[in-house]
Amino acid sequence: MDVTFLKRSVFQRLFGRPATLEPADERCWTYVDNRIEIDLSRVPELAEKGHGIRLEGKNLPQRILVIRGEDGTYHAFENRCQHMGRRLDPVPGSETIQCCSVSKSTYDYNGNPLFGPAKKTVATLDTKVDGGRLIVTL
Ligand code: FES
Repeated sequence: MDVTFLKRSVFQRLFGRPATLEPADERCWTYVDNRIEIDLSRVPELAEKGHGIRLEGKNLPQRILVIRGEDGTYHAFENRCQHMGRRLDPVPGSETIQCCSVSKSTYDYNGNPLFGPAKKTVATLDTKVDGGRLIVTL
């Protein structure tokens, strides 16, 4: 698989600033009993392929990246690069996610490393669409 690099400035990469933001509507998701429930009608960020949201806080035991993949389906990952723990971003036009840091470790949608210093797999999480809700199971 060819690796595409997300366009980010040197400073964004040096300081590990991810392109992916937390959802604008913070009430679009809940976390209860190891289950994240996302109201898709409140998350325009997931309407477009190759984009995503990062979920943090609300007692989540780990940071989560949720993306709408280039394959049109939803994918969720532990949002932690296996090199040094920085956050990850989806790469539009490519079925990959990529570390926001200078070294740009890149993974496929199964979490397998494709490029960069990370050698271990990023954990993926089960996703299921139920009506207008996306369920992510930790
Ligand atoms: S922390 Fe991701 S490549 Fe270094």
